[in-house]
Amino acid sequence: MATILLLTAIFVVAAAYIFHEIVVKGKSCTSKVQLHGKTLIVTGSNTGIGKTTAIDLAKRGARVILACRSKQRGEAALEDIKKVTGSNQVVFMQLNLGSLASIRSFVEAFLKSEPRLDILINNAGIYMQGQTDDGLGMMFGVNHIGHFLLTNLLLERLKECGPSRIINVSSVAHHFGKIDFDCLNTTKSLGQGTTFMEVLQVYSNSKLCNVLFTHELAKRLQGTNVTCYSLHPGAINSELARNTSSFAQWFLLPVTTFFFKNTIQGSQTSLHCALQEGIEHLSGRYFSNCTVKEVSDKAKDDATAKKLWELSERLCGLV
Ligand SMILES: NC(=O)c1ccc[n+]([C@@H]2O[C@H](COP(=O)([O-])OP(=O)(O)OC[C@H]3O[C@@H](n4cnc5c(N)ncnc54)[C@H](OP(=O)(O)O)[C@@H]3O)[C@@H](O)[C@H]2O)c1
Repeated sequence: MATILLLTAIFVVAAAYIFHEIVVKGKSCTSKVQLHGKTLIVTGSNTGIGKTTAIDLAKRGARVILACRSKQRGEAALEDIKKVTGSNQVVFMQLNLGSLASIRSFVEAFLKSEPRLDILINNAGIYMQGQTDDGLGMMFGVNHIGHFLLTNLLLERLKECGPSRIINVSSVAHHFGKIDFDCLNTTKSLGQGTTFMEVLQVYSNSKLCNVLFTHELAKRLQGTNVTCYSLHPGAINSELARNTSSFAQWFLLPVTTFFFKNTIQGSQTSLHCALQEGIEHLSGRYFSNCTVKEVSDKAKDDATAKKLWELSERLCGLV
């Protein structure tokens, strides 16, 4: 009996390991590009895939700006990243994407202190109800509007430093997203959600905004030396679900442990989009598992993307 139990346990662990290596882990970024003399911004880089992305970029010699909302968490990550990479070219700068004023003051400080910007990685994301400082729905405000304003304010510098890239970290959840312009025009929130399903819907909506933003941005960048990409990083064992109930976290633990990527694996598609040579003709497209993927019609609808752009400009005071 004991032998059967032992053999079963070995079989289950081996099967989980093989499944993880073959199915979960996914492809890796194979670019050997070095980044000495290049400057990059990674938003939300104090934890999760933002941090592992920043570590990889710093190891390649880049000057990496950790754009994080918490001074304490940002500075702790800065120390970790310096230790792991041995780089003295990593800098923390405070950026709260849930505050239009914070975004503007981040950009002002960045443009004053840094002469270059080669790659902007809009990675930060939140899965939480509530409102931003400006009264926008938290997920719409941080995941979309915050990055929309940040990108627009940094565009001139990116153009001056071309060839340069903008990477928008979206999610496969964008497939379930909807853009309710009536709701946005009246409440600015794209809904906030109260039930589990509503909150998931609002998150998915914000991730659809990331894909549509990238689609429209690529059009507006035609004729410049700047390209942009959106992506799904995979299902990752990160801190993203930290604001969900402890029951949900406990319930999901076995799934996230065995079936989700770790954060190094989860950063590979961001790195691919940021570094892979020869993908410039794919500007505006969506990637998953280091591969360009088709999106549904609603995620590349020209009229919706343009309307979302114009609404976003109004909501963040660009027009
Ligand atoms: N995890 C997944 O399975 C998964 C799947 C698909 C897509 N994604 C996307 O991948 C990206 C990274 O997520 P992750 O899994 O690495 O999550 P994570 O571990 O929770 O990291 C998210 C990062 O975003 C930052 N952030 C949140 N709100 C912010 C704000 N207002 N201003 C500035 N930074 C803010 C967080 O800062 P604090 O630490 O201060 O909160 C943190 O550094 C997100 O865009 C997410 O939507 C994740």
